[in-house]
Amino acid sequence: MDSFLNFAMNSNLSHISPEDHKPTIPVLQGGSRSVVLAPMEDVSDSPFRQMCRNQGADVVYTEFISSEAIIRASEASKHKMVFEEAERPLGIQIFGGREEAMYGAAKVAEANNPDFIDINFGCPVYKIVKKNAGSACLRDPGMMERMAGTVVDATHLPVTVKTRLGWDDQSIRIREIALMLQSVGVKALTVHARTRSQGYKGEARWEYFKYLRDTPGLEIPIIANGDITTPEHARYLFDETGVDGIMIGRATIGNPWIFRVIKHYLETGEKLPSPTIGERLEMCADQLQSSVAHHGERYGVIMMKKHYGNYIKGIRNGKYLRMEIMKKERMEDILELLLNFREEPEPLSRIGVAV
Ligand SMILES: Cc1cc2nc3c(=O)[nH]c(=O)nc-3n(C[C@H](O)[C@H](O)[C@H](O)COP(=O)(O)O)c2cc1C
Repeated sequence: MDSFLNFAMNSNLSHISPEDHKPTIPVLQGGSRSVVLAPMEDVSDSPFRQMCRNQGADVVYTEFISSEAIIRASEASKHKMVFEEAERPLGIQIFGGREEAMYGAAKVAEANNPDFIDINFGCPVYKIVKKNAGSACLRDPGMMERMAGTVVDATHLPVTVKTRLGWDDQSIRIREIALMLQSVGVKALTVHARTRSQGYKGEARWEYFKYLRDTPGLEIPIIANGDITTPEHARYLFDETGVDGIMIGRATIGNPWIFRVIKHYLETGEKLPSPTIGERLEMCADQLQSSVAHHGERYGVIMMKKHYGNYIKGIRNGKYLRMEIMKKERMEDILELLLNFREEPEPLSRIGVAV
C-alpha cells in the first residue's frame, strides 16, 4: 500500500482490544466537524467502510438492516453486522415498523458491540414505507417517538437517528421532530435535506440546516446530508450553517479519497490533487480483494460493480476497461485488468481487451 492509501491508517487502533476500544464518537460531539460515510445498501459494506476510514472518514455506518431479519437471525442480517475493529467508530443502522422488532433488533445489534445504533427514519422506498418503516414515521411523529424511545430503552449504547425533512412540503416539521427525538434520548440527528416525496429529485435544501441548528433548546449534534460532493460544500456547511458533521453518500462510491481531500481542505484551505490513475486502480484492486475476502468470490465481485464507474471515471479508454471488467466473474481476471491497465490505447489490445 503506498503513501496515499496510508493516509489516516488506523495504526493507533490496532493495539486496542475489543473491551477497551471505545474511541470517542465524533458525531456525538457538538462542533466536532466530523465527516462521515453514509449508510448505503449494497455499498457501505465492511470492505468499503475500511477503505473510507483509511482515507479519513471519521465515522462509518453499516447498510440499513431490517429489524425483522435481525430478530429471526437471518444469515444476511448477521453478515451485515460483521465489522473489523479498524472501522470504529461504527454505527449499526436498523429499520422497521414494529416496536417489538425494533426492541429485539437493538438488543441483537448491541450484542455485536458497535459504538452506537442508528435508526433509519428516512428510507423513501415504497416496500419499506408500506410496512411503516423508514420515512413512514415522518407521517406520524407519535409513532416515531415511540419507536425511537423503544430503541433507546433497549440499549446502553448511544442511539442516533437519520431522517428527512418531512413527508412532503406540507409536513416539514423537522424542528419539532428534532426536539422530540432529543427528549427521548437520541444523541445525534442526521438529516437528508429532502422530503420523502422528493425522493432524490431536485436539490437538497441546505437552508434547513441553519434553521435547524438555530432551534432554541436543540442541543444534540446535527449532521447534514444530501448532495455534498466537494470540499467547498463541506466548508460552506460547517461555516454557514453551524452543523456538527456532514455525511456523504453517493459521492464516495468508487471515490473513497473524497474524505482525504475534504479533510485536508478543511484543515489547510488547499486542494489536494486527485490520486493518479495507478493509485486509483490500485485502490480499486484492494477493495475488490477485500470484497471477495469478506463476501466470497461471487458476491464479492458483484458488490464491486457499483464502484468501478467512479474509480475509472475520466481515464482514457476507461469505458472499455469497465466493459471488460463487467463481463468477468473471477477476481483474478479483474485484478489482471485493473493492475495491467495503461492509459495509452495500444496496451488495451495487448492485455486482451477487445476495443
Ligand atoms: C445506493 C444507496 C443506498 C442507500 N442505502 C441507505 C441505507 O441503507 N440507509 C440510509 O439511511 N440511507 C441510505 N441511502 C441514502 C444515503 O445514506 C443518503 O442519505 C442519500 O444518498 C443522500 O446523500 P448523498 O447526496 O450524499 O448521496 C442510500 C443511498 C444510496 C444511493
